[in-house]
Amino acid sequence: MVADVTDENSSANTFTCRICGGTVRQWFDFGPQPISNAFHHPGDAVAGIRYDLVVGICESCTMVQQRHECPRESMFRPDYPYRASGSALMRKHFEQVAERLLMTELTGPDPLVVEIGSNDGVMLRTIRAAGVRHLGVDPSRDAAEVAAAEGIRVRVDFFEQSTAASIRAAEGPADVVFSANTFSHVPYVDGVLRGVAELLAPAGVFVFEDRYLGDIVANSSFDQLYDEHFYLFAARSVREMVARFGLELVDVEHLDVHGGSLRYSVARAGARAPSPAVRDLLEQENRQGLAELSTYEEFAARIEAIRYDLVALLQRLRADGKRVVGYGATSRSATVTNYCGIGPDLVPFVCDSTPEKQGRLSPGSGIPVRPQEEFSRPYPDYALLFAWNHAEEIMSNEREFSEQGGRWIRYVPTVRVL
Ligand code: TYD
Ligand code: ZN
Repeated sequence: MVADVTDENSSANTFTCRICGGTVRQWFDFGPQPISNAFHHPGDAVAGIRYDLVVGICESCTMVQQRHECPRESMFRPDYPYRASGSALMRKHFEQVAERLLMTELTGPDPLVVEIGSNDGVMLRTIRAAGVRHLGVDPSRDAAEVAAAEGIRVRVDFFEQSTAASIRAAEGPADVVFSANTFSHVPYVDGVLRGVAELLAPAGVFVFEDRYLGDIVANSSFDQLYDEHFYLFAARSVREMVARFGLELVDVEHLDVHGGSLRYSVARAGARAPSPAVRDLLEQENRQGLAELSTYEEFAARIEAIRYDLVALLQRLRADGKRVVGYGATSRSATVTNYCGIGPDLVPFVCDSTPEKQGRLSPGSGIPVRPQEEFSRPYPDYALLFAWNHAEEIMSNEREFSEQGGRWIRYVPTVRVL
């Protein structure tokens, strides 16, 4: 079912870089994985899809990337259940992003902002309210309908060069192209970046946010790897990638969201002076060893240790007759449950606030998703926090759970009970 690209240069431990054609050294094989957002009913076709989650680093351009491609239509289906507005923290984050763009980049006459992967309109909501011209592009029909119902303009489509050309023809050049947690999702960055280069106004800026490789390595957050995160970006690899398209990395900003992200600002080469933050981060990445294979070999050993410790803990709790419930049916939980072999025998259900996920089964593991309200009926003994990037919001909302003796299980950077 899953197509594999023909790669004549591949061997057991190497494959060809999608960005520069160099040699990618494989450093981890998670084994067969499902589509991470395939929350499904029994028997749904999407539930049967598996692909090997294998990850490596390019010796030449340092881009961390996966070996095998999942067809984009299997991941971003019309009924794709992910909703970016699912957390108060993220709603606030994107409101601030929009307000900043309105004050800095969108001050000229009749500016235009195009968002790649606009989901339910969490960012464009604020742009629309300000009366600024905008267009969201997203292949997931149901999410786009949520945005459209609020009066946000959305085109249901994948963003690539042809999409960009038709947007430019209809709307003119864009002052801002924005994307959050989508640009790394597709292997064909060349189509996206050629599209961005075509769509951007001469002084325009492409701003995108994505989970940061430096944080993933530092926090051992291996669950940030799943089908949708085809690339794990860092300043160095992104700088090199965009330069291939006549673009330049001009600013970087660290963000606390999604377990550590980076906001990249990219302009036409020579159009803007790069900020000192770019140079500082490149130096920091050198110190962290982000370009070194040995860094990833050490990370691999930490991933194996987490699997061992987490499974041992859950088995011990089961033997002791304790009840464990999962908290947050995240995309990331697919990697944790399937790589570690955690099923309903160890975690009988996972609770989640997203209506689109409730009543369905988690991909691969078959763990049922139930409404968040069921968490307290009655409280379990332990809660396995899959949505650890929302720990503060969730643990404060669920204070009563801790107060009556409930314990949280965390698994990155190490397995521990709180
Ligand atoms: P997210 O952080 O986007 O993770 P991923 O990118 O791995 O999917 O998803 C968080 C999930 O947790 C989402 O399904 C909503 C859910 N959630 C709750 O159930 N309760 C909460 O209080 C919060 C903040 C999130
Ligand atoms: Zn490369």
